[in-house]
Amino acid sequence: MTRFTASLGLLLLLATAGCAASPGLDLDAEALLDPESCRGCHPVQFEQWSGSMHAYTGIDPLFLAQLRLGQEDTNGELGDHCISCHSPVAVRAGATVDGSNLPDVPAYLRGVTCAACHQIDSVSRDHNASHVMATDDNLRGGILDPVQNTAHGSVYSFAHDRNSRISSDTCGTCHCVFNKNGVHVERTLHEWRDTVFATGDLTVQTCGQCHMRGVDGVAAVSDGAGRTAEQMPIRRIHDHSWPGVDTAALDFPQRDRQVELIQDELDTTLLARLCVTPIAGGVELVVRLENIRGGHSFPSGSAIDRRVWLELIASADGQEVFSTGVVGDDEAVATTGDPNLWLMRDRHFDADGEPVDFNWLTESVQSDLLPAATTNDPTDPDFYHFVERSWPLYGVSPDRVQMRVRMRAVGLEVLDQLVERAGLDPVVPAEQPTWNLGSTQLTWEGQLGSCVPY
Ligand code: HEC
Ligand code: HEC
Ligand code: HEC
Ligand code: HEC
Ligand code: HEC
Repeated sequence: MTRFTASLGLLLLLATAGCAASPGLDLDAEALLDPESCRGCHPVQFEQWSGSMHAYTGIDPLFLAQLRLGQEDTNGELGDHCISCHSPVAVRAGATVDGSNLPDVPAYLRGVTCAACHQIDSVSRDHNASHVMATDDNLRGGILDPVQNTAHGSVYSFAHDRNSRISSDTCGTCHCVFNKNGVHVERTLHEWRDTVFATGDLTVQTCGQCHMRGVDGVAAVSDGAGRTAEQMPIRRIHDHSWPGVDTAALDFPQRDRQVELIQDELDTTLLARLCVTPIAGGVELVVRLENIRGGHSFPSGSAIDRRVWLELIASADGQEVFSTGVVGDDEAVATTGDPNLWLMRDRHFDADGEPVDFNWLTESVQSDLLPAATTNDPTDPDFYHFVERSWPLYGVSPDRVQMRVRMRAVGLEVLDQLVERAGLDPVVPAEQPTWNLGSTQLTWEGQLGSCVPY
């Protein structure tokens, strides 16, 4: 450990040789990498970031367990593939080669840190973290006329300004993953590019416009030279919490707040409709789901891990007559054998067509996700992008049908495998929430042939 720290110090020294802080600026090249150096002047961004998954990934036991298993399965061939997205600054500083020593890497280099985003100069490729990093001591952001400060230089950048379309590439090159076999295993950026949020004239929404909401406030509480918060210009400042669907299993800042933010997002993501229609010899339950607020498919990201499913229960005179997707809190949904299950996720297969649970083994993907809107033209057949499924029931006539869409970030059977094979702390499956999507909780008690909510 001592030897490691010493050699790390040397590496940093070499990497930063000749670029001590510019005259008049307090932060040298090493201090610019440390989120703690930003905290005093940017307390809001710091606090939000510190509870985000961008920070958590630096200590995430789930990431570490997957990485261990992946390196083992591929005899180390993964190399820096995973860690170059999950802790890019640690790789650049020479503190890790393949992530295997991540727990020993100094905390300030781990995770997707302030510097990992604010030193980005441009993007060279639209996948696998292909950022061109700046080598000067300016930090880039979306403020056109930044107040100069004593800590760092400030520069406006299209790559950061959420009102510029290319800011999506800045997020997207990390949020688009080709695995080592050349298979597109995470596709969020490419999904977005086909939607009205990328192509529409009046409906453009970048990643940042949806995921970093703006409020009025001060961007910094000091300039280091005597100017206080009251003397700073009021600007649009942007949320750095990035709620998605993953949560911290360990004690971590802002945990409860993240859970609240995620629930709020998920509660309004889908539009749902439930109809009960008479058919010869029985009834048909018809469920329609439409992804109305996702700027990409839903779910997205590591969709191999995601489990999004429909729970549907029909009863007559208080007796259950049909159900699908009913699972206990500690029960895996993908392995129940339920023949009626509507499960939204990606399925991955190896070269022999056998299903696999980890994306370093993937040779092909079969995707069953809810697409986002691709046109604003109601005369275009693609305008209706909802997905509908139906279940015929014969010989029964339910008087009450209930539904809800539920979601887990990672399948429990995948987490259980990691506990067994890669030493994952069992607290991770135990702490993982099962989300219920508010807007999809519907109860039908009407006339045959009617729908809820309309
Ligand atoms: C001494 C106080 C101080 C410290 C320390 C500090 N900043 Fe700043 N920073 C400022 C001020 C002042 C501004 C300009 C705010 C404005 O114009 O409203 C600023 C602006 C920025 C911008 C916006 C640049 C632009 O043009 O859009 C970013 C990004 C930024 N800082 C990141 C950081 C990061 C990351 C750190 C830690 C490595 C850090 N800052 C440390 C005071 C500081
Ligand atoms: C995942 C990328 C990412 C990370 C990590 C990140 N930021 Fe930002 N930050 C942005 C983007 C993008 C903007 C610009 C938003 C805009 O203007 O449209 C921004 C804006 C800012 C601004 C300008 C004021 C505002 O809120 O718009 C400051 C200051 C800032 N960030 C500081 C920090 C600090 C300090 C950290 C670490 C504690 C950090 N950021 C981590 C992406 C990031
Ligand atoms: C350097 C690579 C990188 C960049 C740049 C980046 N991200 Fe991320 N992002 C990640 C990683 C890695 C995670 C996963 C953390 C985890 O769950 O362990 C993540 C997680 C997220 C999540 C939470 C996902 C979940 O499942 O909970 C959201 C939302 C998100 N990022 C949005 C953005 C947005 C918006 C931007 C651009 C402003 C951005 N990211 C830029 C790497 C990046
Ligand atoms: C029109 C708004 C919108 C745009 C544009 C958008 N998103 Fe999302 N995003 C959402 C919503 C809504 C969700 C679902 C709610 C949630 O997971 O918190 C979501 C979920 C996510 C997630 C969680 C993964 C999952 O399984 O759902 C990630 C990661 C993410 N977005 C990244 C991005 C990135 C990167 C971009 C740009 C390429 C982007 N988003 C563009 C609205 C948007
Ligand atoms: C090109 C960048 C990139 C590469 C390469 C990459 N990831 Fe990720 N990873 C992400 C992003 C972005 C997310 C967040 C998206 C989400 O959670 O939906 C993520 C999420 C995760 C998560 C969170 C769990 C989940 O299902 O949300 C784990 C664990 C993970 N990655 C492990 C790995 C491992 C192991 C590798 C290497 C085999 C790897 N990643 C390679 C960008 C990357």
